[in-house]
Amino acid sequence: IAHFHHNQDFVGKRVLITSGPTQEAIDPVRFISNHSSGKMGAAIADAFANSGAEVHLVLGAGAKKPKSPSIKIYPVKSANEMYEESSQLHEKMDICVFAAAVADYAPKNVASEKIKKEGADMTIALVKNVDIAYSLGKIKRPHQLHIGFALETENEVFHAKQKLEKKKFDMIILNSMRQKGAGFQLDTNKVSLFFEDGSAIESDVLPKEQIAKIILEGIKKIPVKI
Ligand code: CTP
Ligand code: CA
Repeated sequence: IAHFHHNQDFVGKRVLITSGPTQEAIDPVRFISNHSSGKMGAAIADAFANSGAEVHLVLGAGAKKPKSPSIKIYPVKSANEMYEESSQLHEKMDICVFAAAVADYAPKNVASEKIKKEGADMTIALVKNVDIAYSLGKIKRPHQLHIGFALETENEVFHAKQKLEKKKFDMIILNSMRQKGAGFQLDTNKVSLFFEDGSAIESDVLPKEQIAKIILEGIKKIPVKI
């Protein structure tokens, strides 16, 4: 067992991580989704496991799986399923990392049979999905740490700080879209960490394993609330 533990920083801590894309069914053979690979979430899960934490990973369909055998994985497809699993686990958790790329909208009705091709145009009505981080933020207790992600294409810092506040995150990780070597399917990333007190930490472009370590270092810096 000692072989897997690179350090003991998070021994005794229970960690919930959401990761990967969600899939929102249109009909039995089609869905709406996004390009999230789940690589960042998997790297964070492994970093926590290697630091002695008990890790619970709620994992979207097709997302990358972590390496550590001790991590408990809860496979889900839709945002609703991800919300159900996450809210069942939430109460017992010390740290929650919302790394999933949750679809913001889902088809209003799921067709029970495959939709047949008809006219030249077609429209699918969508309804807003539950916001997992926001909903759990509302019931978060003082000792629980919530960590969020943001991916923006404009006014990056402003939007990230807005999400930090709105979703009651203790820290938000802004994924840099402008930087070469940072992004969805890649093995490298560049991030900025923003804290509630207004302070920030910026990383270089690094492998996602290294970024995960920087994120864990950031979490260790969050002041304890009583
Ligand atoms: N998130 C979530 N549930 C959702 C949408 C987002 O838990 N239904 C979480 C993400 O995992 C991430 C954070 O909220 O940690 C921010 O996600 P993002 O998509 O950037 O924010 P949104 O609030 O959906 O705003 P928008 O997409 O309009 O920028
Ligand atoms: Ca969104």
